[in-house]
Amino acid sequence: MNFKDKRDNRSNRDSNENKGLSTFFASCPREMEGLLEEEILDHGITNIEIKKGGILFKTDDFSGIKFLLNSRIASRVYKSFAFLKIKNERDLYESAKTQPWEKILDLKQTFKITTLFDMTAKSFFKNSIAVSQILKDALVDHFRDIYNERPSVDTENPDMGLLLRLESPENKNGWNASIFIDMCGDALSNRGYRKSGHQAPLRENLAAAIVLSTDWNPEEDLFIDTMCGTGTLLIEAILIKGNIPPAYLRVKRYIERNEKSFAFLKQKWFLEKTYVTKDTKKYLQDIYNHCLEAFNKLEEFQFFGNDIDKKNLDLCEEHLFNAWIPDGIVTLSHNDATRFYPEEIEAPGVVICNPPYGERMNSKESLEDLYHNYGENLKKNYKGFRGYIFTSDQELRKKIALQTSKRIPFYNGNIECRLLRYELR
Ligand SMILES: C[S@@+](CC[C@H](N)C(=O)[O-])C[C@H]1O[C@@H](n2cnc3c(N)ncnc32)[C@H](O)[C@@H]1O
Repeated sequence: MNFKDKRDNRSNRDSNENKGLSTFFASCPREMEGLLEEEILDHGITNIEIKKGGILFKTDDFSGIKFLLNSRIASRVYKSFAFLKIKNERDLYESAKTQPWEKILDLKQTFKITTLFDMTAKSFFKNSIAVSQILKDALVDHFRDIYNERPSVDTENPDMGLLLRLESPENKNGWNASIFIDMCGDALSNRGYRKSGHQAPLRENLAAAIVLSTDWNPEEDLFIDTMCGTGTLLIEAILIKGNIPPAYLRVKRYIERNEKSFAFLKQKWFLEKTYVTKDTKKYLQDIYNHCLEAFNKLEEFQFFGNDIDKKNLDLCEEHLFNAWIPDGIVTLSHNDATRFYPEEIEAPGVVICNPPYGERMNSKESLEDLYHNYGENLKKNYKGFRGYIFTSDQELRKKIALQTSKRIPFYNGNIECRLLRYELR
């Protein structure tokens, strides 16, 4: 039985056992909402509402935690604390002050508030820091009234992150103010295998989204990243192949060192629900055991990485090591991608790359030859493969003299990008 089968069986059991449902919000980068929706549906959760930059969904607490631990796409997962209908800032203060904050926060715990607006709320409220301040005042005044004391703010390393989302309701009457508890702490996209040093690495959840948007079949296709940089696409592909939950390194820290590596592990609502705590601890141990086995089952000669820069290759090796990927699983080489192809490889497979594209690295002019010559190499040496290029620059894209069969939009931070697919016959 693989890890996913176990997970599905447990979630059936849970839905029978747990009566109450909670509301969760999973955030993700722009244009990745569709993939996030697929992931949520894959967890058997159907009560969902798609928003810009994330998805609201309802499920029981344990299923919400399982989703957080398994999502490759979400940046963060939040649990709803309060939903308020307000007309203005004053209303926000008055309603928020009456909320039962002591149910989620102790006087000794620190907190931080972040506010996000939709487009309409942005033009009305304008300043998100000022709105966060109002919510902070409501929270501390609530505590002061009851205990004559208040919890402190910590913007660096808070015990509890709170998110306030202000949106215009469908009937345009007033504002919906949703207050959420950040269940993650550190963002889920920080898998924990990366060290800084490369100029333009892909964020891990974006890299996972790119791999999932190709037609790579982990059971039979080779995976070749010809400009692998620090190896993010390779590592995310290997995690997908092994069905390894992307948060596994944080799970490892919890199991081996009892580190509270996810914020929810120290949150009151979680600790007080003993049945959720018990199931979660068991599930974290299951993930840990599964990973030990899954990494050992990976086979050699499926994953190939190449880069022209030795420093990046060294970082890539370090990341593979940090990610627990055994030696020999990725065949690394140091070549110019405009000439490189791994010897003795045979289709089927996916040959992918995220070449430099000017904004962050080399100048555009120096890249034109790279794009053109790379396209020629694909044509000549990768017959029968499916080629993918992830880039932002339209002009550079045109230098590749190959027919594009698919264009998938993405954002890399604020940079609009495309994943382009080429058939290499
Ligand atoms: C945008 S970065 C890739 C980042 C990578 N996806 C990651 O997450 O770390 C582009 C990479 O292309 C490599 N590169 C540039 N020109 C190359 C060439 N001619 N052959 C091979 N690699 C090249 C650079 O060294 C750099 O590591």
